Amino acid sequence: MSRLEGDVSSGRVRACALDDVAEEAALGVELDVEGEDEPTPVCVVRSGGRVFAIRDECSHQDVRLSDGDVEDGKIECWLHGSQFDLESGKPTCLPATDPVPIYPVTIEGGDVYVDVNPDKAAGGAKEEHFRTSFGPAAASLK
Ligand code: FES
Repeated sequence: MSRLEGDVSSGRVRACALDDVAEEAALGVELDVEGEDEPTPVCVVRSGGRVFAIRDECSHQDVRLSDGDVEDGKIECWLHGSQFDLESGKPTCLPATDPVPIYPVTIEGGDVYVDVNPDKAAGGAKEEHFRTSFGPAAASLK
């Protein structure tokens, strides 16, 4: 996992180069957010020709999702096998029952930018505190 800094005042942060993430694979990064003491762990994922960003923390226990397998728009937690839909952050099978926050993604100049502003995150336990209208949660490469 690498720690990166970006335009923290807007919440939009360069997470990695697009080439850093293989198709149907994930990369864990830590991104600084204004007002937060700790960096936000983010899992950047490529699947089905799209790029997603989901919090790099399983909602069942505190393990990194970026260490799991990616397939068909889902990431599987390596510890107990719950799968999470990368579009919504919702689990598609047990034992996890709570969603994981997802973040808007844009691709510019071969780089992946993630908006880690909590006001724009969706899903996860903090969902009730977040606005739910925001830009696309994934960036298409097609
Ligand atoms: S820690 Fe992820 S499913 Fe249990």
